[in-house]
Amino acid sequence: MDRASSPCSVDIRTTSLPPIYTTVSHSKSSQPPRLAAIPFSIYTAKLFVYVVSTCVLLFVLSQISLLQSRSIPSPQWPLSLVHQWQKIILDTTSDGPLDATASKVERLRDAVTFLPLKDLRFAERPAEGHTWFISSLNDTSTGGGPQHLRFPSDSSKGRVLCLKGRDFHDGSWNYYALAWPDTLPRNATLMSGLTFVSYNHYDYDNIWHGLSTVYPFVAWHHGESCRRPPERWVLYHWGELRPEMSPWLSKLMEATFGKPPSVEVFDKIMEDGSVCFEDAVVTRHNEGGMSMERRIEAYDLLRCSVRRYCNLSSEVDGDANEVNTIRLTLFMRRGGRSFRNESAVVEIFQRECDKVGGCRLKVAHSNDLSFCDQVKVMSTTDVLASPHGAQLTNLFIMDRNSSVMEFYPKGWLRHAGVGQYVYQWLSSWSGMRHEGAWRDLAGEECPYPEGNFRCFDVYKNGLIGHNETHFSEWARKVLGEVKLRKAGDAVPKRMQDPAGACACS
Ligand SMILES: *[C@@H]1O[C@H](CO)[C@@H](O)[C@H](O)[C@H]1NC(C)=O
Ligand SMILES: *[C@@H]1O[C@H](CO)[C@@H](O)[C@H](O)[C@H]1NC(C)=O
Ligand SMILES: *[C@@H]1O[C@H](CO)[C@@H](O)[C@H](O)[C@H]1NC(C)=O
Ligand SMILES: *[C@@H]1O[C@H](CO)[C@@H](O)[C@H](O)[C@H]1NC(C)=O
Ligand SMILES: *[C@@H]1O[C@H](CO)[C@@H](O)[C@H](O)[C@H]1NC(C)=O
Ligand SMILES: *[C@@H]1O[C@H](CO)[C@@H](O)[C@H](O)[C@H]1NC(C)=O
Repeated sequence: MDRASSPCSVDIRTTSLPPIYTTVSHSKSSQPPRLAAIPFSIYTAKLFVYVVSTCVLLFVLSQISLLQSRSIPSPQWPLSLVHQWQKIILDTTSDGPLDATASKVERLRDAVTFLPLKDLRFAERPAEGHTWFISSLNDTSTGGGPQHLRFPSDSSKGRVLCLKGRDFHDGSWNYYALAWPDTLPRNATLMSGLTFVSYNHYDYDNIWHGLSTVYPFVAWHHGESCRRPPERWVLYHWGELRPEMSPWLSKLMEATFGKPPSVEVFDKIMEDGSVCFEDAVVTRHNEGGMSMERRIEAYDLLRCSVRRYCNLSSEVDGDANEVNTIRLTLFMRRGGRSFRNESAVVEIFQRECDKVGGCRLKVAHSNDLSFCDQVKVMSTTDVLASPHGAQLTNLFIMDRNSSVMEFYPKGWLRHAGVGQYVYQWLSSWSGMRHEGAWRDLAGEECPYPEGNFRCFDVYKNGLIGHNETHFSEWARKVLGEVKLRKAGDAVPKRMQDPAGACACS
């Protein structure tokens, strides 16, 4: 014990700095400060009251944050309990300056400072490590898990997250602050239970972009042994509030967390009122920084959850001996990025499938399928052949080690940027085999000069032709490899991953 240390040193720079930089330090000494040596005066009496009351307050706060940090990662102590406990401490340890303590509490309440959710200083590089969303805080992650912020936690010094964030149009008009649970900002509404707060650089409608945004929560949940589903979701895009996610994404989250996601829009909070969360997890970096193992585990959990949700038993299509079956699916689109001559493409793949014993071809149109129909198609597919597009997001639902064949219309290689590789990445993150892509060299010409950014809008909606020779050779090669691989599997894959036993670490 460090007896000789100075009495509580207090450094609460509330006026010059936002609360996130506020430092509150004090000695861990169990001895009360020795004040006897100081000559008595009115001034020192005041100082005494100030020091004692501050010490009491800080002791209370440190106990509260200790309480909370101890209980992590399990659910927090109920705040009411913390309040009761704090009251007891106050009643038994402070003999006198309750008024001064109360005034300190009031001052801490006033010290809570709201900062814009979207920090325009980082507008040039919002997608980089340091996002413009809650820019003052750095992510944490452990053991290759998802990068996230947790409130309250050690790194938030026991403080909870508070938001004034209901603007749908400009993220710099939405605000966040950190506060201790017992000194919440005035008129704040405390929302109990676990809240997921997500940052999305694109949108929640496109299922690929949506999946990358909710995915780190799934990984976090898995890392917490799936103990506790979220009570609510708060969705932001560039700091702007979003009221909903796409139905596909919503179903995926329902399947994973056991109930439909409740998306909070703060409509029951009075205008300009703030909301604080008993327990909140914020993610801003999609799957960034996660290790391969953690990625695969989280996709395993998603796959298992959706199959269970859609009541797919281990005998999905009644195949007695799946080792000898190769299920090839052409997953078609309509409109932009559909095949120019679909029946010709089907014919080619049918012909190659017929040459391989046990191969069965299915042609499905993603637009016609309900969520569970999509899950069912994916669960019964070993080789997925599909144009580049959001429908490919479903690929992680296939058994692991399944194959993906992708097709692009003209112009993508040059104009579509790094985003055109997302299904290659998704295949690898979810344990699939991306068997390459075919790029159509023919097609509609861009009417603008070469290199014009508007060309991409033209190519984006282009149709995809076919090359009979190439498609035949490619299909033959992939089907041959799959046949070899499945024959080598000691146990059918589905037996290794029975629906209903979704593993949580
Ligand atoms: C966040 O990380 C950066 C770079 O590692 C560091 O300079 C900065 O001080 C950190 N900020 C906080 C609030 O921890
Ligand atoms: C809190 O709410 C009351 C009543 O709605 C209002 O009069 C008061 O100004 C609010 N205080 C703050 C700090 O917003
Ligand atoms: C799955 O089965 C349960 C129980 O039979 C049923 O309540 C539920 O609606 C089914 N779900 C789907 C997606 O069919
Ligand atoms: C599509 O391909 C089939 C088979 O190769 C062919 O018979 C048909 O004429 C083609 N249709 C069009 C519109 O080109
Ligand atoms: C996938 O294939 C690899 C290599 O062929 C094999 O080691 C692994 O066990 C397979 N994974 C599953 C889940 O079947
Ligand atoms: C079609 O594919 C074959 C085999 O890859 C290739 O040799 C041929 O040049 C392609 N035809 C066209 C028109 O691109």
